[in-house]
Amino acid sequence: MGAGRKVDMNALPKDGIAWPELRAQLQDAGKGDVDWRGGRVPMFIHYAGDDVLEVAKQAYLMYFSENGLGLRAFGSLARFESEVVRMALTLMHGDDATRGAMTTGGTESIFLAVKAARDLAKQRRPGIRTPQIVMAQSAHPAFDKAAHFMGLQPVRTPLRADFTADPDAIAAAITEDTVIVVGSVPAFPHGVVDPITEIAAAASAQGVWMHVDACVGGYIAPFAQQLDPSIPAWDFSVPGVTSISADLHKYGYTAKGASTLLFRDADAFAGMGWFFDNWPRGQYFTHTLVGTRAGGAIAAAWAVMNYLGEAGYRRITQRVLDTRAALQAGTARLGLETFGDPRLSILAYGSPEVDTAAIGARMTERGWVVGHVTEPAGFHHMLNLTHEPIVGRYLDDLATCMAETPPPSRSAPLKAQY
Ligand SMILES: Cc1ncc(COP(=O)(O)O)c(C=O)c1O
Repeated sequence: MGAGRKVDMNALPKDGIAWPELRAQLQDAGKGDVDWRGGRVPMFIHYAGDDVLEVAKQAYLMYFSENGLGLRAFGSLARFESEVVRMALTLMHGDDATRGAMTTGGTESIFLAVKAARDLAKQRRPGIRTPQIVMAQSAHPAFDKAAHFMGLQPVRTPLRADFTADPDAIAAAITEDTVIVVGSVPAFPHGVVDPITEIAAAASAQGVWMHVDACVGGYIAPFAQQLDPSIPAWDFSVPGVTSISADLHKYGYTAKGASTLLFRDADAFAGMGWFFDNWPRGQYFTHTLVGTRAGGAIAAAWAVMNYLGEAGYRRITQRVLDTRAALQAGTARLGLETFGDPRLSILAYGSPEVDTAAIGARMTERGWVVGHVTEPAGFHHMLNLTHEPIVGRYLDDLATCMAETPPPSRSAPLKAQY
């Protein structure tokens, strides 16, 4: 603890504590945190340079007090949000019919896509009993969370040998109670891009809503595609895609608390909102699950998108993809196999010949926060520019830890934490 009074954790201080002292305590408190700037975390951070961070921070502070719930009071935020959504729709090949809104994060975007799909399906097919979500084994837990909170049944299908979702298995799992089918760009565990065209075709053949979870890929895949046109189409250019979740606070490089949820048309979009009028304070309407929203997160998204522009995002994307390629080549030299064919910023790798858990524990002792994938057992990174300068150092440490660790005598199941 820094100089000054010790904060009593159990009660408000009798008198307030002066800001310089609190600032010192805040600084002190972070000293034990992982050195994210040094590339020591495999996820949680999306850094694109100090200049980008500064734009996001300044814009956030300028709208720190304004509230995204009160767009009728804050025309500025209404304008920023509308422009953010229009930029997103253009990037993802929307047209005059496509619509969308900002949310506070990927989980909220996913909740609202599920809600919109459920409500529209129930309206069109009143016979639905327990509405179902059909998705591959690799889809994000936010879909199960949404199912749990909103009374749907999650149905997960096996992956193909290359770890992508299997469109045939998804098609076979669709029933008359299915209200939404999911594909991921990319799926978090292995970083592979699901075959969206085939999944969307399977869904639309049975008249079912298809959601693309591009929470990770939404703001990196479009630029990766410009750099490498062999990356398959996944957005509104694909027939049958009904909605897309795309997080700005990941590869949009904006302040946390910003995602976009986009819809094929106004009918689909209509289910995102919620209206209420049965109380003494008038009409209440939100597009979001939350009420109050940080004005700063909306302003920062607008500012960073305009600051970077297409060229800026493309430049950063190239560097992130190069970082992935360098890590991929280095881990391959160590005898570790890449799982599937990751085309974007997530890399998972491992080998049955090595004791993944023991190596991970040794890497932890060396100051790395380790991400694991469990099926198959391996290591997991969601990369950004903090990793660019430390790939060599990471690989050196990994080589040392591998050399120090005997091969596994039996294959105990690997435990991993998100
Ligand atoms: C594929 C995917 N979908 C959804 C989410 C949830 O996003 P959030 O943590 O912003 O709620 C994540 C988070 O990493 C993700 O990887």
